[in-house]
Amino acid sequence: MRSPVYLDHAATTPVRPEVLEAMMPYLTEQAFGNPSSAHRFGRTARAGIEQARREVAHAVGAEPNQVIFTSGGTEADNLGIVGAALAARDRGGAMCVAVSATEHKAILAAASAVCHLGGREVVLPVDSGGRLDLAALDAALIERPAVVSVMWVNNEVGVIQPVQEIAGRCRDANVIFHTDAVQAFGKIPISMAALPCTLLTLSGHKIGAPKGIGALIVRDRKAIEAIIHGGGQQYGIRPGTENVAGAVALGRAALLAAKEQAPEADRLRALRDDLAQRLKTAVSDLVINAESSERAPHVVSVSVAGADSEALIMHLDLAGVAASSGSACSTGAVEPSHVLVAMGVPRDLALGAIRFSLGHASAVADIDRAAEVMPMVVAKVRKLAGVLGRV
Ligand SMILES: Cc1ncc(COP(=O)(O)O)c(C=O)c1O
Repeated sequence: MRSPVYLDHAATTPVRPEVLEAMMPYLTEQAFGNPSSAHRFGRTARAGIEQARREVAHAVGAEPNQVIFTSGGTEADNLGIVGAALAARDRGGAMCVAVSATEHKAILAAASAVCHLGGREVVLPVDSGGRLDLAALDAALIERPAVVSVMWVNNEVGVIQPVQEIAGRCRDANVIFHTDAVQAFGKIPISMAALPCTLLTLSGHKIGAPKGIGALIVRDRKAIEAIIHGGGQQYGIRPGTENVAGAVALGRAALLAAKEQAPEADRLRALRDDLAQRLKTAVSDLVINAESSERAPHVVSVSVAGADSEALIMHLDLAGVAASSGSACSTGAVEPSHVLVAMGVPRDLALGAIRFSLGHASAVADIDRAAEVMPMVVAKVRKLAGVLGRV
């Protein structure tokens, strides 16, 4: 039996061997110490953390003392949004946050949490290509929200937001800008050196580090307040004994991602475009979501008319191809992806959306396999849908 093909790198990636090698000493006897301990074991661990901070900072064009390690992208997003709202309240301002409609659930749920705390959220619309409505941003800025959050690259459709433009408008309005760069990092050039943003989110497991490590880059510590409380680690912004091995892994993965970004982007784009073209040719009534927008090279979202995305994913898996659906099963009923709904994609196409996402390990053979099995899978799912529809 042929080994299965993994085309779900936007969900997570395998740990890269170089990364595993770098983190191992911090899990075992050589460097396992608590970085807050004054003895040599602690000092060795502290040195590992500080090195990792320098590496992450270097990879994203920030300063080492701006890197706050977190348990992942979700926590970094929450710290950015809720932390900025709390800091605004402390300054006597309003706890209002403005987020785009196509943000990851980590941001959307954090914005809802701000409402539960007595604040307010403004959800900024996108156009049919998934790009932020800049007029809506300008209108929201008049109210001087505590923070504006717009992701750099969307995780479902790969759309790249004009973050330079958005960050500039926020700076001119004197409003803090946060960007979730989880899907951008390593895929498109990103640097905070030229971007006037105060807060930026990274996640390790999308770039070959393990799950459970991420970072919020904080340019101005006054911009946020801690959302968890404990010892004074990480300037009190994110207390708790640091995940040393995870931080070391993120540092190494970040350096590799930054170094390899340009050639890797070209390679992935060629593979992705080949897959998209072959799917369009082989499957009737298949559309590429956000096809005309500028998109990151590792993601393609396709909608198949007359097929349900959960069934497509299941049958693709049976055929040895792992992809993902954007739909969410809440309260027993399948709901279309909020991203596609925000873009105005018709409901039947949104319910038939699946995402293929590529990564470091993706090769031509993976694309060949997906292109080969997809027409059969779609035919099967459409036939089943027809049969069920008649019952
Ligand atoms: C854009 C985006 N933001 C945030 C996250 C959450 O990151 P983590 O899984 O590290 O909590 C993800 C993960 O899917 C993501 O794609």
